Amino acid sequence: MDSKVIRQKFIDFFKARGHKEIAAAKLVLENDPTTLFTSSGMQPLVPYLLAQEHPEGKRLVNSQPCFRAEDIEEVGDNRHTTFFEMLGNWSLGDYFKEEQLNWCWELLTKELGLPKEKLYVSLFEGDKSVPKDMEAYDIWKSLGVADDHIFFYGVDKNWWSRSGPPNKMPPGEIGGPDSEVFFEFTQVPDNPYAHYYNDCHPNCNCGRFLEIGNSVFIQYQKQEDGSLKELSQKNVDFGGGLERLVAAVNNNLDMFESDLFSKIINSIENISGRVYQDITDNMSIIADHVKAATFLIASGVTPSNKLQGYVLRRLLRRVAVKFNDMCGMTDNIKDLAEIATSVIDTYEGTGLLEISKTDLKLVITDEMDRFSRTLDRGLKEIEKIDVIDGKKAFELYQTFGFPLEVIKEIFKGKGKGEINQEEFEEEFKKHQELSRTASSGMFKGGLADHSEIVTKYHTATHLLHQALRDVLGPQVFQQGSNITAERLRFDFSYDRKMTDEEIKHTEDLVNQRIKEDLKVDHMIVDLDKAKQMNAIGLFDEKYADKVSIYGVGPGYKLDAGAKDQRARGGYYSLEFCGGPHVKHSGIIGRIKITKEEATSAGVRRIRAEIVLN
Ligand code: SER
Repeated sequence: MDSKVIRQKFIDFFKARGHKEIAAAKLVLENDPTTLFTSSGMQPLVPYLLAQEHPEGKRLVNSQPCFRAEDIEEVGDNRHTTFFEMLGNWSLGDYFKEEQLNWCWELLTKELGLPKEKLYVSLFEGDKSVPKDMEAYDIWKSLGVADDHIFFYGVDKNWWSRSGPPNKMPPGEIGGPDSEVFFEFTQVPDNPYAHYYNDCHPNCNCGRFLEIGNSVFIQYQKQEDGSLKELSQKNVDFGGGLERLVAAVNNNLDMFESDLFSKIINSIENISGRVYQDITDNMSIIADHVKAATFLIASGVTPSNKLQGYVLRRLLRRVAVKFNDMCGMTDNIKDLAEIATSVIDTYEGTGLLEISKTDLKLVITDEMDRFSRTLDRGLKEIEKIDVIDGKKAFELYQTFGFPLEVIKEIFKGKGKGEINQEEFEEEFKKHQELSRTASSGMFKGGLADHSEIVTKYHTATHLLHQALRDVLGPQVFQQGSNITAERLRFDFSYDRKMTDEEIKHTEDLVNQRIKEDLKVDHMIVDLDKAKQMNAIGLFDEKYADKVSIYGVGPGYKLDAGAKDQRARGGYYSLEFCGGPHVKHSGIIGRIKITKEEATSAGVRRIRAEIVLN
C-alpha cells in the first residue's frame, strides 16, 4: 500500500464514522505567536478542544503537514524526519476512550491489515493527580491485546501536551494521558541502525519498535497554582505519522525507501551521481530538509535571519553543505533547486502542497546564491586564522555553516593545527541548550495559554483592520498578523507610507470603538452567508462549507465619513477567525500605534501596544 492509499483509507474510515474532513492548516499559523510552526494536528484546533463550537461539528478528521525544528539534529538515520504528515481524528467533547480505541484497533488491524501480534500498546501508569488508566487497559484487553503486549509508563512517555509532562505545561495549556500503539519490525536484526538491548521494550528507541499512533485523552488544563483541572469537555486527539504508518504497513523501517521519498531520493541520485544505499545518512538529511524547506516556502516563509525564515535558511544551508560533503565543493549547488521540484511531484494531487515549480526554484536559487557568497567570505576568513580551536571552529560553523569535518579538512590541508573535538562539542551543546530554551519559551504567555492580554490584542487587531479600511479605503486587506503578550503586529496591503494624520486618525478610531464598549459575537455560518455579509480577513479553509466569524458591535452605525460602508449586519468589524476574543471591546484599554513601516512592495506593517489609560 502506498501513502496515497493509506491516507485515503484513514480519512474514509473516520468519515464513515461521522467525522467531517477539515482542510490542513498552514505550517506557519496565523495569529499564534506562541510557536514557530504547526507541529501537531491538534495545534490549530486548540480553541475547539477548549469547548468553542467548531463549524464542522464535534468529529473531525484530516491530514496535517507538521514540522518539528527541534528534531533537526536527529535526521540522518532511516526513520527521523523534521517534516511529517500527521493523520488525525478528533472528538471535541463527543466520543471518548471506548470508541477511540476500538476504532484505532479496527483501522490498524482490518483496514490497514497490520498483524495483531506485531502491535504493542502503552498506557499511563498514573501519578499523584491523575489515576492509572485502567479504563483504557480494560478496552485493550477486550480487543484481545495480550498482557505481554501492554506496557504502562509515566508522565515522560504517556502524557501528551505541546509542552510535555504536566510540570512543563504553562498555565492554560491543555493535555492528558495517552495510549500509544507501536509496531514491531521483525527484520530489524539486519538493520544497521537497530541495537537490541536485553531490556528492550516498545518505548526504548532502539529501532525495533516504532510508534505509529497516539490517542491523547485531552481532558486537563494546567492552572496558575500548578494543579490540573478537568476541562468542561473530554476530548480525543489521535495522531499517527503517515510516514511511519507507511513503513509499518510495508514492513520496511527505512522511510526513505517509501513512495513519500522515492522521487526525491531519485532526484538527489541523478544530480549527485551517488547512490542512496552507499550514502544513506547524507541523502536522508538532504531529502528531509529539501521536503521541509519546500513546504515552508509554500507556506509563505522566505529565508532570513529571523524566526521561521532563519530555520528555513538553516535547512537549505545544511542541504548545501551535505551536498558538498557527498560530491566535494561544487559549483552546482544551484541545481539543488531542481531537487525541490521532485517534492511537488511527490505530493501532486494531495492538495497539501500548492506552489509552482518556478516560484519554488526562484526562492531556493536566490538563497543558494547568497550562500555561495557566504562560503567565499568564510573561506577568506579561514585564511586569516592561524590556529584553530574548538571555539573558533564553532564560530565558523555558526556563521558560515561549515561543519566540523569540513573545517578540519581545510585546516589539515593548510597544516595549521588541529581541532579539539571535545571543545567544539561543548560549544555545540551549549548552543543547542540555548535554542531549546528559546523555543520552549515561545509557549509562554501567548494564545497557547489564551492569556487575557493576548486575547485583548487579538480583538484590537480586528478593530485596527477595520479602522485602516475606514481611513485608507477598502483596498486595505490583511496580509498577516502576529500577536504576543507585549504587542500586536499587523501587515496589510497598501502602496505608500501612511501620513502622521492617517496614523493618528486610525489610532483614534480604534480607541473610540474600544471606548464604546462594543459587544463581540461569535457565529458559525455558511460560507456563502459570511461572504454575503462581507466578512473580511484571511480565509484558508478552502473546503469548509461552514465558517467561524467574529463580529464586533452588532447594530453598529458606521461613521458618516467612513470609506468602507458595505452592509454587514450592522457589525463594525466582521472577520473570518477562529478566536479567541474578548466579550466586549471596553476591557481592551487603549492602544497606541508605535510603528508604521514597509515590509515588502505594497505591504505595510503596523505595530501597536496596549497602554495604560
Ligand atoms: N497530539 C498528539 C501528537 O502530536 C496526537 O495527535 O502526538
